[in-house]
Amino acid sequence: MTAPVAVITGATGGIGAVLARRLAADGWLLHLVDVDAGRLESLRQVLPGGTTIAESRLEEPAACATALQDAPDRFGALVHLAGIFVPHDLGPGSREIYDQTMQHNASNAFDLAGVVLPRMTDGGRIVLTSSLGFHRGVPDHAAYSMAKGAIVGLTRALARRIGNRGICVNAVAPGIIETRMADDLIERRGRDALLSAIPLGRLGQPEDVAGVIAFLLPGDASYITGQVITVDGGIINA
Ligand SMILES: NC(=O)c1ccc[n+]([C@@H]2O[C@H](COP(=O)([O-])OP(=O)(O)OC[C@H]3O[C@@H](n4cnc5c(N)ncnc54)[C@H](O)[C@@H]3O)[C@@H](O)[C@H]2O)c1
Repeated sequence: MTAPVAVITGATGGIGAVLARRLAADGWLLHLVDVDAGRLESLRQVLPGGTTIAESRLEEPAACATALQDAPDRFGALVHLAGIFVPHDLGPGSREIYDQTMQHNASNAFDLAGVVLPRMTDGGRIVLTSSLGFHRGVPDHAAYSMAKGAIVGLTRALARRIGNRGICVNAVAPGIIETRMADDLIERRGRDALLSAIPLGRLGQPEDVAGVIAFLLPGDASYITGQVITVDGGIINA
């Protein structure tokens, strides 16, 4: 029997690289997508043979189709982690960053879903990435907060649309996770100030998010769909 195929976007990021190792250990065959060719190749070298990679900037439908054209058929899972987090002001001068943020964080999820679903096995899983930034709003990242809210809407719409194929669609909403993406935030706000707002008393690690994503894939979590699972050390609700 061949291994099921999981597509991971943003695969060389902090969360993506840890997830790739975890899913490979769990027996998944991986197709990894990211803009960074060098990091993709390095990651492939530490993963089992059969891992395929695609260097691609996912920002319009054609790019999403191209990124998946060399992936093995058929998909058991899509984990869409690709995203950017760029501070910006309000007003016309910020429109370019706004457009990029929406494309890299939200529009590409819509485009990817259209490409992936015809190739997904019944009973497959889609995991999209929202954020604590959606729940609380990030003052100097309005576009990011909007985009991560759009992910929640897409998650719920897809869950209703394809539940009849046994496909579960969920989102994870990480809190503050120690990856490149959070470096600038941690520096500007200060580690101690951030820690004081986290009931578990530590920043999140990529493994904290990867473990939840792995749980949402086939094998477990067969009756969970349309949900946003917050992985934030208790910031929102505790
Ligand atoms: N780190 C955090 O604190 C945090 C908090 C909330 C949500 N998230 C979300 O988790 C996801 C993963 O973030 P991370 O912390 O691993 O960040 P990261 O910056 O380490 O990784 C993001 C990866 O996405 C890739 N990428 C960005 N835009 C892309 C595009 N259009 N096409 C292809 N690849 C693209 C980057 O090259 C990078 O490898 C993101 O969606 C992010 O918004 C992270």
